[in-house]
Amino acid sequence: MSLFEKGTDIKPAKGKLGVLIPGLGAVATTFIAGIEAVKRGMGEPIGSLTQLGTVRLGKRTDNRIEKLSDFLPLADLSDLVYAAWDPIPDDGYKSAVKAGVLERALIEQLRPELEKIKPWPAVFSQKYVKRLEGTNVKKSKSKVEQVEELKQDILNFKKSQNLDRLVMVWCASTEAYQERLPVHDTIDAFRKGLERNDDAVTPSMLYAYAAIQCGVPFANGAPNLTVDIPALTQFAKDQGVPVCGKDFKSGQTFMKTVIAPALKARMLGLDGWFSTNILGNRDGEVLDDPESFKTKEESKLSVLDYILQPKLYPMLYNGYSHKVRINYYRPRGDNKESWDNIDIKGWLGYPMQLKINFLCRDSILAAPIVLDLVLFLDLAQRTGMRGIQEWLSFYFKSPMSAPEVYPEHDLFIQLMKLKNTLRHLKGEELITHLGVEYYD
Ligand SMILES: NC(=O)c1ccc[n+]([C@@H]2O[C@H](COP(=O)([O-])OP(=O)(O)OC[C@H]3O[C@@H](n4cnc5c(N)ncnc54)[C@H](O)[C@@H]3O)[C@@H](O)[C@H]2O)c1
Repeated sequence: MSLFEKGTDIKPAKGKLGVLIPGLGAVATTFIAGIEAVKRGMGEPIGSLTQLGTVRLGKRTDNRIEKLSDFLPLADLSDLVYAAWDPIPDDGYKSAVKAGVLERALIEQLRPELEKIKPWPAVFSQKYVKRLEGTNVKKSKSKVEQVEELKQDILNFKKSQNLDRLVMVWCASTEAYQERLPVHDTIDAFRKGLERNDDAVTPSMLYAYAAIQCGVPFANGAPNLTVDIPALTQFAKDQGVPVCGKDFKSGQTFMKTVIAPALKARMLGLDGWFSTNILGNRDGEVLDDPESFKTKEESKLSVLDYILQPKLYPMLYNGYSHKVRINYYRPRGDNKESWDNIDIKGWLGYPMQLKINFLCRDSILAAPIVLDLVLFLDLAQRTGMRGIQEWLSFYFKSPMSAPEVYPEHDLFIQLMKLKNTLRHLKGEELITHLGVEYYD
């Protein structure tokens, strides 16, 4: 049976929606300050599909185009309430100032709102994030107890703020590389791992497990395994909780998943793709550690093979070289700069090159992704969707998918899937782009 039926009943978005955020750093504070600025008419939610996007309904001749926010019963921005965990005790205001993403004048205007967010002590260990030292950390050393403390934070927040629903989005640092092991295979193995404080049960997994136990949808913005293990995806499904991840698709990989499908669409070959970045924020500092970088590298590298399918097109794509570099360079702050050198080949194998220089702002690109994930995951839960939400792949560098299918990386296929899922939920016809009826 399908996880959700066509034209299903969607529960209304009544009451307040709590947003739980592990990691009150650059992305989280840019997200929160951004929402507060939008609510006060001090800025526009540019980059957010839920706020600005539309969906076409019916035939092209019907002229039915609706704003997503009118088409769907999404939570209102004024109903969002935030809470965070962080091993660094800075409140939302101090953290936003340190992140240096938004202008100081804007942060000052939002100071009272940002200061209200004082991070709870985190489940944190330097074993997983070498370059950080945290003082605001839960005292308990037992993983079982840490999960209980996280659950207590969640339930206290819900009660004290009189919240109707909750969503959790991991915006914390990238953890050291962790391969998938038998302890991740089933919920029983996972629970035994917890009990013996197994190192392979990482802090981010504890947050995800606590969220699922409390019935809270979970999104993973970093490339850590976290909820992308059979133990937790099955547990989420059993508990009726939607989950998604991994790693926000914000800058360089966003461009990669636009350009690579275009090259393949025209049957142009690829000889090599060299991607390099400089960035100087705390994320860059964490990724300067080889173990955290390896987690990120895996996430960034997997994209091209899935899109180009070298097995299907060996002449075009066998053996291309793909390198990804991230360099910590302090003066650049959050304003990351990326360069891509792409060696392609055309008719009769003649070589050509494509150069992309993206001067982006990491957190400015990530904040609207966080907002959309919060609103869509909340919608998914009110609809009865559970387990992996592949239709949210659009937002991730390493999208989670069912074990029997490969992940879809092409941005435009991802967008079509997202919008068709929304049409399906509302009982509208899916759009296939066949369109023969216009020419009968
Ligand atoms: N465009 C983007 O900015 C982008 C894109 C994709 C992924 N990401 C990922 O999103 C995450 C956040 O990025 P950022 O720029 O805000 O980084 P950041 O360093 O500014 O913030 C991360 C915060 O997480 C905290 N933290 C670390 N371990 C924690 C734990 N166990 N529990 C709670 N908090 C913890 C850190 O103290 C820090 O304050 C990173 O993992 C990054 O790789 C960001």
